[in-house]
Amino acid sequence: MNTRNILLGVNVDHVATVRQARYRAHPLDHGDEVEPDCVAFALASETAGADGITMHLREDRRHVQESDVRRAHAQIKTRLNLEMACTSAMVDYALQLKPHSVCLVPEGRDEITTEGGLNVVGQKARVGEVIAAMTAAGIKTSLFIDPHPAEIETSAELGAPWIELHTGAYANAYFHEGRIREFETLRKGAELAHSLGLRVNAGHGINYTNIAEVVTLPHLHELNIGHSIISRSLFVGVEQAVREMKACLR
Ligand code: PXP
Repeated sequence: MNTRNILLGVNVDHVATVRQARYRAHPLDHGDEVEPDCVAFALASETAGADGITMHLREDRRHVQESDVRRAHAQIKTRLNLEMACTSAMVDYALQLKPHSVCLVPEGRDEITTEGGLNVVGQKARVGEVIAAMTAAGIKTSLFIDPHPAEIETSAELGAPWIELHTGAYANAYFHEGRIREFETLRKGAELAHSLGLRVNAGHGINYTNIAEVVTLPHLHELNIGHSIISRSLFVGVEQAVREMKACLR
């Protein structure tokens, strides 16, 4: 039995995706009257026990808008984790907003959701600068990386306090023969990261089924989950969907 208390961060991006599917062309000046409101989803998640809220403000603003981030920052009572690219504009934005943490992610214009991990090895200098700027401002930095030793070692070398291991390859392989290999890669990655002093979070593609195995990964501090909780909330409501996921973490 898993006796660790793994925290749950709820990613509300896809709530905004649904809203933008209808209201993209309209200014969001109706506040939460424009449905569905991702901030209301975040608040309901907190009521049900979410330990933090994640929002990704993309360069193209395709789902979450700046007004969403501002309202969430003002209203949520837990922690705001802002996902962002390593651009100067986003760094300036985060330094002004001062969320609890930022998670640096790669951004490809064509992807619907974040596809691969950040290439920390390939852009060491830039990632190091962003970590230093955030640390100086009292903002924790997490690096969303594939569970590869070089990425993990470079993250530690650059002084990142946290990493978020990308669980997408494992989730995609879940019903296929690659699952055991992908899980083993994640397990070794978590061990390595922990041994280097990194706090280990994980996320992407985690759902009510694969979470049973994901929680057996060593040293997990927090899981960031969006799509599956949002999908389930259509049938059972937000609070029930979050409570069920929290129960899976205990
Ligand atoms: N973590 C990161 C860094 C993400 O970008 C996302 C969304 O793509 C998630 C976690 C949540 O993934 P999912 O919506 O598949 O649960």
